[in-house]
Amino acid sequence: MSFKEDVGTGLSENPKYLSSRYFYDAEGDKIFQAIMKMPEYYLTNAEFEIFSTQAEQILSELDVNGRKFDLVEFGAGDGFKTRILIERLIEAGANFRYIPIDISENVLNTLKSDFQKRFPDLEILAENAEYFEALESINRKSENPKVILFLGSSIGNFLEDRTVRFLNALYAVLNVGDFTLIGFDLKKNPKTILEAYNDKQGITKAFNLNLLKRINRELEADFDLEAFDHYPYYDPETGFAKSYIVSLKKQTVNIKGLKKQFVFDAGEAIHTEISRKYGINQIETLFENANFNVSKHFFDCKHYYVDTLAKKI
Ligand SMILES: C[S@@+](CC[C@H](N)C(=O)[O-])C[C@H]1O[C@@H](n2cnc3c(N)ncnc32)[C@H](O)[C@@H]1O
Repeated sequence: MSFKEDVGTGLSENPKYLSSRYFYDAEGDKIFQAIMKMPEYYLTNAEFEIFSTQAEQILSELDVNGRKFDLVEFGAGDGFKTRILIERLIEAGANFRYIPIDISENVLNTLKSDFQKRFPDLEILAENAEYFEALESINRKSENPKVILFLGSSIGNFLEDRTVRFLNALYAVLNVGDFTLIGFDLKKNPKTILEAYNDKQGITKAFNLNLLKRINRELEADFDLEAFDHYPYYDPETGFAKSYIVSLKKQTVNIKGLKKQFVFDAGEAIHTEISRKYGINQIETLFENANFNVSKHFFDCKHYYVDTLAKKI
């Protein structure tokens, strides 16, 4: 479905929702880069630490010496952490191409020009696509053995059925001997988690409300941003961190591009994002159920986060 159709469907439902994939327009990409630098957003630092201190161990598990392979990254973003792995792979003399996939053409262009400068000899085949579309076409693009990266806890943005569907589809397109390295945010003190989505500077709020700005801009709507607030919530029992946009009064919004009006009650919420937190047993069960063999977990020093390497055997 297109942005327009998804917005029309989500705002007509009860309860209302908007897909988190639409956070990432040019402005959303910029705000997300600011989020990654926030002290409260521990996820980036944790994964950065894992790659900075354990890249050699990851590479030795991959056993890529001498064989040509494709490093494919889903939701690559600006590649801030991936570039450490790429640097180490190049230093180790690995023979590989890099295939970053992202729904945001803007961030993909930034990533491509940055990596072309940093790694002039690296072949980069960027693909502007949605995860599931990219899964369907991946084998038309690549016949080589593959290492699939899915970093930044992006898998946590899926509900359970989509997580299972993603891992099953990934397993189906891989060949025996291929690997996937997936970043999961772990359950921890709920206050630490909540702060990551509720910074005092209001950067996460701006990221969430940018969805309404995008609807104003692209679908000629008249959302008054002052009349909505950002509301994050974490349930330690389920491990679901959820973000909402809440209407601060009863109001009607006109979306010209949809030729429709939408009524919001005072206090009514639009669900915009889920960021799931995992226990290590849940992660192992996920991979086992999709037939992957877990090779190794790579933790940061605080055990806030894990990158799990799994293999199709
Ligand atoms: C949370 S950011 C993580 C970026 C990077 N992997 C990192 O760890 O810093 C998610 C990235 O995935 C992209 N993305 C979100 N939903 C997507 C979808 N459904 N299909 C493809 N890319 C998507 C976004 O544009 C964004 O660059």
